[in-house]
Amino acid sequence: MNELEAKEKNINFISKRLDFLQTTLRRQYPYAVDYISQITDDDLPTIYAITPTYTRHVQKAELTRLSQTFLHIKNLHWIVVEDSENKTPLVAKFLERSGVVFTHLNTKTPQYYQLGENDPSWLKPRGVEQRNLAIDWLVKNVDANKEPGVVYFADDDNTYDLQIFHEMRNTQTVSVWPVGIVGGLKFERPLVNAEQKVYAWYTAWKPERPFAIDMAGFAINLLLVQQNSEARFDIKAPRGYIESSYLIKIVKMEDLEPKAGLCTKVYVWHTRTEKPKWKQEDILIKQGNPSDPNIEV
Ligand code: UGA
Ligand code: MN
Repeated sequence: MNELEAKEKNINFISKRLDFLQTTLRRQYPYAVDYISQITDDDLPTIYAITPTYTRHVQKAELTRLSQTFLHIKNLHWIVVEDSENKTPLVAKFLERSGVVFTHLNTKTPQYYQLGENDPSWLKPRGVEQRNLAIDWLVKNVDANKEPGVVYFADDDNTYDLQIFHEMRNTQTVSVWPVGIVGGLKFERPLVNAEQKVYAWYTAWKPERPFAIDMAGFAINLLLVQQNSEARFDIKAPRGYIESSYLIKIVKMEDLEPKAGLCTKVYVWHTRTEKPKWKQEDILIKQGNPSDPNIEV
């Protein structure tokens, strides 16, 4: 091994060690996360990960999984938007301790669009007003000309490989990639031609959609979001057309940037969490003797 190779190996090793230390420090000293980020983050575009979330039994578990993925990502700013009248103490406390740079917002989905207790989940669109509020925030509070950024809509129940954040980091317009376990298929993906351009969608469900892609399958340069400052997701869009309702306003298919090995690799999965069995707890609640309410789950 020549001297140069040895040095390179050493630098890689030190850099890995720094990454590990950074993640550990964020967990240990969440109140100092801005300071830690200043020291350890590189000169990279910020990834703004937008997560709509709502109160339910598995919420804290979902947020834990997500935040501990994000801990590993440099220059990530998490915009968490609660679907609620007020910010809940559970989420507020959770974010304070998460070790992730965050902004906490809330807006309640209008009554008409809210899912009923026993409605199938596909009946109404989910997370739309929340994502739109996050776009409002990004338009008002960041200047993409001074601070480059990338916007990603990261639902709280999906599963994210760290690689997907590397793939999206240098998005110039809108980058796209496959999503696993979605639309009744093993995966959906953009189809890429010999010129490395997206020309169609591999999907079984409503292939006529202009952007037949799940929310988890694309990221947008913040400049584009700000240049189209009036564009939002349309809550009235037909089922399956929410993603398209925003993307058609800001990008053309030929300008999409295929990532993840020209859309041949799956780095994000549209996992969905089973609703937990709560029957015994309900019985206890009825008896006025619920499990210790001081233990947050
Ligand atoms: C699919 C897509 O992956 C979503 O991005 C899209 O919003 C949704 O369909 C839709 O068509 O509206 P799916 O897994 O069926 O997603 O939806 P959820 O994961 O249940 O909800 C998406 C996001 O909205 C989650 O982050 C969830 O926490 C949030 N949400 C859900 C709310 O904020 N309020 C709700 O009442 C329900
Ligand atoms: Mn989901």
